[in-house]
Amino acid sequence: MQRMNYQIIVAAGSGSRYGGNMPKQFCDLNGRPLLMTTIERLHKCDSESEIIVVLSLDMTDEWRQMSDEYSFAIKHTIVVGGATRAASVKNAIDHIERSTCGTPGWISIHDAARPVITPKLFKAIVDGLDGYDGALPACKLSDSIRRIETTGSVAVDRSLYRSVQTPQIFHADILIDAYRQPLRPEFTDDASVMEAAGYTNLCLVDGDPHNIKVTNPGDMAVAELYLSLL
Ligand code: CTP
Ligand code: MG
Repeated sequence: MQRMNYQIIVAAGSGSRYGGNMPKQFCDLNGRPLLMTTIERLHKCDSESEIIVVLSLDMTDEWRQMSDEYSFAIKHTIVVGGATRAASVKNAIDHIERSTCGTPGWISIHDAARPVITPKLFKAIVDGLDGYDGALPACKLSDSIRRIETTGSVAVDRSLYRSVQTPQIFHADILIDAYRQPLRPEFTDDASVMEAAGYTNLCLVDGDPHNIKVTNPGDMAVAELYLSLL
């Protein structure tokens, strides 16, 4: 039997660092809400998988109205999010567990706020999954790094660190198992949830410096620029 794959897009955050009168994933990117570009590009990365978009309860009606207004037609399931990113992912995983008959294949989890995802990066991550518990994109650091200590700060060797992006892709059965543990505040991505559950065999794939997470004011223009270069 063909195994079903899933793409979770987490879009239930409030975008407090970005500011504005709406969370950043609904702010304008190339003439429409950013989230539409992210969904469209992920659909292009893998059109066979089921797309699950996690939204905060108070944005679901507004999102449906936006979808009508822009005739946004890419099929997706809406799940209501939680207070933290991990809680939002958990709600989507619970939905997958409830609705799946048979064994799901892989689950990809992507930040809605990263619209510059490319099929090339997505394929590299899916390929990286083979023989590992999961695969995720990671970039070398270009800034120098200092660790903050009670007495001041100390320089560290930046070659020992990577900054981590999404999508992160995992075999569904073990991701579902990892998300059964109590969620902790330090779970800022899904690899950290997997690791805490003992699934430490993770493949780091070269990330894409253009795959930015729109976070601070000004990042939207940078995302538009990177999209124009594709
Ligand atoms: N996210 C989510 N549910 C939450 C918190 C975050 O689905 N409770 C999503 C965001 O919508 C975003 C992704 O997780 O697409 C990455 O989080 P981040 O960039 O931190 O977004 P926000 O939490 O919305 O922004 P901020 O931290 O600035 O408030
Ligand atoms: Mg956040």
